[in-house]
Amino acid sequence: MGSRARFAPILSTSFLLLLLRSAQPLGLRQQTPLAGAELVGIAGRYLTREERWMNQRLDHFSPTDHRQFKQRYFEFLDYHDAAATGPVFLRICGESSCDGIPNDYLAVLAKKFGAAVVTPEHRYYGKSSPFESLTTENLRFLSSKQALFDLAVFRQYYQETLNSRHNRSSGFENPWFVFGVSYAGALSAWFRLKFPHLTCGSLASSGVVLAVYNFTDFDKQVGQSAGPECKAALQETTRLVDEQLQSDSDSVKALFGAQTLKNDGDFLFLLADAAATTFQYGNPDAVCSPLTNAKKNGKDLVGTYAQFVRDYYIKKLGTTVSSYDQEYLKETTPDDSSSRLWWFQVCSEVAYFQVAPKNDSVRSAKINTRYNLDLCKNVYGEGVYPDVFMTNLYYGGTSIAGLSP
Ligand SMILES: *[C@@H]1O[C@H](CO)[C@@H](O)[C@H](O)[C@H]1NC(C)=O
Ligand SMILES: *[C@@H]1O[C@H](CO)[C@@H](O)[C@H](O)[C@H]1NC(C)=O
Ligand SMILES: *[C@@H]1O[C@H](CO)[C@@H](O)[C@H](O)[C@H]1NC(C)=O
Repeated sequence: MGSRARFAPILSTSFLLLLLRSAQPLGLRQQTPLAGAELVGIAGRYLTREERWMNQRLDHFSPTDHRQFKQRYFEFLDYHDAAATGPVFLRICGESSCDGIPNDYLAVLAKKFGAAVVTPEHRYYGKSSPFESLTTENLRFLSSKQALFDLAVFRQYYQETLNSRHNRSSGFENPWFVFGVSYAGALSAWFRLKFPHLTCGSLASSGVVLAVYNFTDFDKQVGQSAGPECKAALQETTRLVDEQLQSDSDSVKALFGAQTLKNDGDFLFLLADAAATTFQYGNPDAVCSPLTNAKKNGKDLVGTYAQFVRDYYIKKLGTTVSSYDQEYLKETTPDDSSSRLWWFQVCSEVAYFQVAPKNDSVRSAKINTRYNLDLCKNVYGEGVYPDVFMTNLYYGGTSIAGLSP
């Protein structure tokens, strides 16, 4: 999109429908099972998974630090014309490991337009980490601003690669178009904003361009998506869990298979996120059917919700309880780094604290601003908190003012 006028409708229709969660990064891992992709073989799901590498600068904003790291990327050229003069689609990978170029709507567009598709992995995620140990000190180069600069450098690097492969002079320019969804959608809009000379345009799908501190609308949307009957059942469940946490917290946590979560806030956030994610990815029946049935038949609501969390959210969607555990988030060499990395971006730049609204919340009122700020401090240390004012000052929030081509 080029102009503000065209940007606004995209935001208003999709901003609340598909939002960032904060504990588990969004990624294909969660989306594929819901899309029914388990029916397709792994080969059909990706255009390519063949890794390529480039040297990327660690700190784009330092005049004296010239260190580099290896950034992973993927390229798919089957639809590009033989002379390689057609468009290049830059598909932005967001806050998770980027394991290939998925075979989705973008493949259809690429075929139609004879486009090459390239996708670099976001710095720090997956195999593109500059550091083995993800200490807070080492995380200081993890930001959307650095990531955008990476995209610009990648874009130039890849353009030159294409030129030399085809024996073209170095000034040759393919038309570039940028795509992204959710946080990567925000990056897509911001890339167009900050580097208009490097793209013809960009598509920001569900782009979360506004950094929000107390993001109470998230829970309100969950209540709305649930509808009155399911919302009431969810709220009653929340009340009962809050009570049981007071009387016997070990038993209620064990019921959910989450006894490892020592912090009650972590536990309550897992429970809230389970429902939110289920609505966000368009599968309300998975939580609402069992819960409203249990309510009608006078069955145990907490037990019913626990079964949904265990069987659906954890087993079927592959969510890990540890990704909600602040003790795990503190680990500097975790098996799966994406939660620690995304929380750092939340805690240092964009917030989106998914706190309970004052009135009529679905989630526990204990998931409040304090819980989030305490998490930031506990996991990353004193002084790590998000300055959303600065983030929105830098990018423009919903008043982002992109240039027309
Ligand atoms: C580029 O030039 C080299 C050396 O002259 C040649 O071997 C190669 O086939 C050329 N490639 C293309 C795509 O024209
Ligand atoms: C966020 O909520 C907290 C607690 O209700 C309040 O103290 C704070 O002022 C709010 N901050 C913003 C920026 O709205
Ligand atoms: C709180 O929520 C209830 C239920 O949605 C509503 O009827 C009531 O007006 C709200 N109260 C305030 C103060 O907003």
